Amino acid sequence: MLEVPNFQYERVSSTNDVAKELLFKYDCLVVSADYQYNGRGRKGRSWEGESHKNIYLSFGVNETKQEFIKNKILYQIIGCLAVESTLSEFATGAKIKLKYPNDVYIANEKNEYKKISGVLAEHSYSGNICTESVLGIGININQIVFDKSVAEKATSLKLLGYNCDTDNILDSLKSNILKFMQSNEEETFGLWKKKIDLVGKNIIVVSNGVEYKVDTISPFGTLLASNHNGHITINNGDSIIYEL
Ligand code: BTN
Repeated sequence: MLEVPNFQYERVSSTNDVAKELLFKYDCLVVSADYQYNGRGRKGRSWEGESHKNIYLSFGVNETKQEFIKNKILYQIIGCLAVESTLSEFATGAKIKLKYPNDVYIANEKNEYKKISGVLAEHSYSGNICTESVLGIGININQIVFDKSVAEKATSLKLLGYNCDTDNILDSLKSNILKFMQSNEEETFGLWKKKIDLVGKNIIVVSNGVEYKVDTISPFGTLLASNHNGHITINNGDSIIYEL
């Protein structure tokens, strides 16, 4: 198995930032931390969590030295698939779903799906050449109280009754990321498409509040959707609401 340098910190601003800072020295690397004081999510949101309770991990690749993945959208997809594989190992019997574009949800005892993990893939470009990729993953493990802004929709393994050690989950997550990084791209994409299960579903685009039906998913992960007024393309910068 490929050996990837591993950096574990007690406290960092964001594991994505630390991975970027270290990448000039390495082909690829893993950075994890017990606490982030400036963790970020998609669309400029923050990603906050208590110290020593959750997983904050980044897998960084210096694309000029080692290119695992050609289709860069797969970073985010691999993040979600790796989280799903790891969670199914530790939360035996739990119902886990991927939510477009970058979240992982898990059902509680009332069969309500709550967010347990978010994925943030960031890429740097020189012209149209990707030079650096960082896949950042946060998973809620042992935190039981969440900020009121997210409390309604967030959960953790502990809240669902699973007692887990974060180090064991971290090891599993790293090996799942590496497995998907070294898998066939078309197969990984096909697996994600099946699991995201969006074609034919009705969605509401948050930015305009309009409902569409998803017709297809492009090889770049964009959704092609339509309604009686015409067609729309939705990409991973857009937020959508739909029933999981
Ligand atoms: C989201 O749901 O919007 C994505 C959240 C991504 C959070 C992870 S935690 C590790 C890595 N470092 C960050 O600052 N963000 C990602």
